Amino acid sequence: MDPLFAVVTGGSQGIGKAIALEFARRGIRLLLVARRQEPLDTGVSAEGRAMDLLDDESRARLISEIDERPSGLDVLVHSAGTIARADVADATIEDFDLQFQANVRMPFALTKGLLRSLERAHGQVVFVSSSAGSFREPTRGSMRRLRPASAPWRPPSARRRTPPGTCW
Ligand SMILES: NC(=O)c1ccc[n+]([C@@H]2O[C@H](COP(=O)([O-])OP(=O)(O)OC[C@H]3O[C@@H](n4cnc5c(N)ncnc54)[C@H](OP(=O)(O)O)[C@@H]3O)[C@@H](O)[C@H]2O)c1
Repeated sequence: MDPLFAVVTGGSQGIGKAIALEFARRGIRLLLVARRQEPLDTGVSAEGRAMDLLDDESRARLISEIDERPSGLDVLVHSAGTIARADVADATIEDFDLQFQANVRMPFALTKGLLRSLERAHGQVVFVSSSAGSFREPTRGSMRRLRPASAPWRPPSARRRTPPGTCW
């Protein structure tokens, strides 16, 4: 049987890198995506794509490339994201827009673009979210309002087949 194929956004550091290292240990083929090239060299066997996922054209190219793989996409992990710590009074509209773009619009657009690949492999999608959505800390004000925004949408295939333990 072919090894599973996973795409991990933000796979160059932090939580995404930890997931990538564990996937590599389990023999899963990896494509890691982040803006900077150098941290994508994680020391494990993985392809890396240095690109800004907020850029619609770059994201479209990535989607086309993945779509060309006949066996499809087994796992899509959304770990790329950003946080601007500020309450509503201090946060700028630019802070809000960046967080919305990175934490809500981009993962929505990438998931939507990769639906065919995911369906081909009966794949699963993992969103690395944040408990900031439920904290009362003032500096996480804008995060609180954004994190739940990605909750209502997920691929139709996942609604049918999400096993226990799948993260949303
Ligand atoms: N760490 C925590 O305690 C914590 C807690 C709750 C939730 N979270 C959330 O979990 C996710 C991962 O957290 P983390 O701590 O691992 O984050 P992190 O260390 O800041 O890593 C973020 C990753 O995303 C990539 N990235 C960011 N913007 C990108 C873009 N526009 N295009 C492509 N890649 C991009 C970064 O690489 P480049 O900079 O090279 O692009 C990096 O690989 C984030 O969404 C974060 O908000 C984290």
